Amino acid sequence: MLTLNRWKVPDAAATIKTTMESNQARGVQVVASTVLNPPAGRGGGRGDPLTADEQALVDRGAGIYNELCFACHGPDGFGTPKPELSTTMAPALAGSPRVNGHRDYIVKAVLHGLTGPVDNKTYTDVMMPMGNQNDEWVAAIASFVRRSFGNTGGLVVPADVARVRAGTATRKSMWTVPELIASLPAALFTDGWKVSASHHADAAGDALTLTTWNAGAPQQAGMWFQVELPKPQTIAEIQFESPAPGGRAGGPGTGAAVTSGGAPVAGPGGFPRGYRVEVSSDGTSWKPVAEGRGSGRSTVISFAPVQARFVRISLTETAENAPAWSIQALRVYGVR
Ligand code: HEC
Repeated sequence: MLTLNRWKVPDAAATIKTTMESNQARGVQVVASTVLNPPAGRGGGRGDPLTADEQALVDRGAGIYNELCFACHGPDGFGTPKPELSTTMAPALAGSPRVNGHRDYIVKAVLHGLTGPVDNKTYTDVMMPMGNQNDEWVAAIASFVRRSFGNTGGLVVPADVARVRAGTATRKSMWTVPELIASLPAALFTDGWKVSASHHADAAGDALTLTTWNAGAPQQAGMWFQVELPKPQTIAEIQFESPAPGGRAGGPGTGAAVTSGGAPVAGPGGFPRGYRVEVSSDGTSWKPVAEGRGSGRSTVISFAPVQARFVRISLTETAENAPAWSIQALRVYGVR
């Protein structure tokens, strides 16, 4: 059914409908109904609706895609068919685990180009370097691709592109896939981590899972969350989610908004309104490595690689009636 749909075989829809009616197997039903009712619009992406600025970035990316990338990667992100060779001009961006993985992957592929096989397939066309484009351009196209075609990666901001560009300034050649993957920040395993917090410390471990840790009180400057790694490591990034109250990840720890009276109210998620990240080798003397403001469900904090055994995130703003600070799926990234 996917093949019929993919290659736009005449009467594909009718054949798929008949198959769906005559075969109740779960897989057949799921594939048929998805093919017959594709998700509306660009969809994908994570939970939060976009701000106006973010939407403008993604819209700009859509324009770039439809002028340039679509020629090889196809208007649907599945690769432009090359029937005479029973292949496509370029790999599918839809559902690529690399495109949906760390955002530096697509940024690096666009800046410096990519050569050689992708998933064991060799293409006759080439992914050319586009590093002559500015940071906004690269962020726009990368954000669009990571949120379209069913992809669920987060946005890429111009500062990400600037950071990657600076870090790869001396690079002259295109990447191969294995080389590019080896260069990406990798999430550290959470084995042996000791986590603690200024509030609800007994539930701090929930921050590493989908259960979600929640400070249980309105955001206040000085609240902190801390990870102690089993040994010093070179780290360069922290990511976590702060789901909105009533969001998909239910459970008692969900980032429910809390009024000063303590009663949960509906409202935006518990992302940090202002934060600082500090690292330490002994848990006593701390060195600040990043400061910023959360802006939605995902908080992504990059900083220059630094050796650390303790990592502490502190709030820098007191927000009256703000939702409690919440952390879900906390990841610390090391550099290889
Ligand atoms: C001339 C054809 C062509 C154009 C235009 C093109 N690409 Fe590619 N792209 C390829 C090919 C071919 C590959 C596979 C690597 C190779 O063989 O060079 C690829 C690979 C990729 C990959 C890696 C995919 C994966 O799963 O690892 C990404 C990401 C990508 N392209 C993004 C883009 C974006 C974004 C644009 C538009 C700005 C674009 N490409 C324009 C041909 C093209």
